Amino acid sequence: MVRPWLCLSLAFVLAGVAAPSIAVPRAADAQETAAERDRRMSWFREARFGLFIHWGLYALPAGEWNGRTIPGIGEWIMYNARIPVDQYEPLARQFNPVRFNARAWARMARAAGMRYVVITSKHHDGFSLFDARNSTYDVMATPFGRDVIRELAAACRAEGLRFGVYYSIMDWHHPDYLPRRPWDTRPAEGANFDRYVEYMKDHLRQLVQDYGPLAVLWFDGEWEPTWTHERGQDLYRFVRGLQPNILVNNRVDKGRQGMQGMTRPGAYAGDFGTPEQEVPATGLPGVDWESCMTMNDTWGFRKDDHNWKSTPTLIRMLVDVVSKGGNLLLNVGPTAEGLIPEPSVERLAAIGRWMATNRESIHGCGPSGLPQPAWGRTTARPGRLYLHVFDWPADRRVTVPYPEGGVTRVVALAARRTPIRWTREGGNLVVELPAAPLDPVNTVIAIHTRRR
Ligand code: GLC
Repeated sequence: MVRPWLCLSLAFVLAGVAAPSIAVPRAADAQETAAERDRRMSWFREARFGLFIHWGLYALPAGEWNGRTIPGIGEWIMYNARIPVDQYEPLARQFNPVRFNARAWARMARAAGMRYVVITSKHHDGFSLFDARNSTYDVMATPFGRDVIRELAAACRAEGLRFGVYYSIMDWHHPDYLPRRPWDTRPAEGANFDRYVEYMKDHLRQLVQDYGPLAVLWFDGEWEPTWTHERGQDLYRFVRGLQPNILVNNRVDKGRQGMQGMTRPGAYAGDFGTPEQEVPATGLPGVDWESCMTMNDTWGFRKDDHNWKSTPTLIRMLVDVVSKGGNLLLNVGPTAEGLIPEPSVERLAAIGRWMATNRESIHGCGPSGLPQPAWGRTTARPGRLYLHVFDWPADRRVTVPYPEGGVTRVVALAARRTPIRWTREGGNLVVELPAAPLDPVNTVIAIHTRRR
């Protein structure tokens, strides 16, 4: 039985129009119409796949402090090892990533089939990877003395990638930031959080105006008690005021629901949800989101983290995300020398080989409206339905509920010249697969449908 809702979304595939999105009320931008929002979000919905880069001073200790292995994610070492500011700060004098090559990073992202890059301009440790006008705790004060954000922004643009920055609201270094960590002996007296917010806004003004236009401002660290809904709304408006078409994640405000990351109902600011290290069980029509994910267990480099996800896992994860209407922001944590760890490079190259053949089933695609099949996933775009066959069925037949008419051709993306046999059985489309998978990880079958 083909359910009515199924007919409806399939009708969009057949008719070649995008499904309508539901306008989400966001108090911080009451003026924007649904059509204006759709226009602003359109590159993000098309892109589906981006590179996250966590890089900063924490790449130097790489998970070890004073000869001790510190448990936890690499970029949290200052917190986890309870390192006082006056002991952490001197790491800046050692930061000299001479192997850094912005163009090579951007090329690597593009070859992987990624469409955008988001890098930590300032993480929780407060150190800026850009030439911060209002601070000396930045990359220009290191022996390296090169503006990493500027070089990467230029390289991304040269490679046709969109460029955005991560920015941590929480700051363990700035004297006006509150609350103080329990082991931080600097007096909290005289600290002024409003002054910290001004400092942060100066950074953001500089990032948007001198390094922009930016694709995304990706906030984090909003869970602290000093960060309020009012401050979140104000910051969202401030950033949109600097660059009206920028996208801002939901960590700018207080609406994020834990690691699940979607925005809880209510008037919270933020253009997309940010599930962390997870893929939601289902997507939600009209809701934009991006799962951020590490390839091993840490975001910032740790020399002892060898727990790498396999390439098949990552490819299927990307497909799973797109089949549910989200984006995947896949992380790398470069070393203190400026190198992306070899296991990450290898995985991105392998994803790129799969994408070279199959990218049309990812970019510009979203949910098909069909129920999730046992053998894999489905994605769709106007005029195309893609079957992602992860597990080759023993009888070599895949069946999808599909209304009458509309199908003009069925091919595997890995062998486009050879049409694949298909038949109809009642309301189902039955595709007769070749003897063996054309790709051991995921063979994609494209079903061409008539556009009306
Ligand atoms: C967490 C961590 C942070 C990391 C981020 C990525 O919030 O605190 O270190 O940057 O996740 O989503």
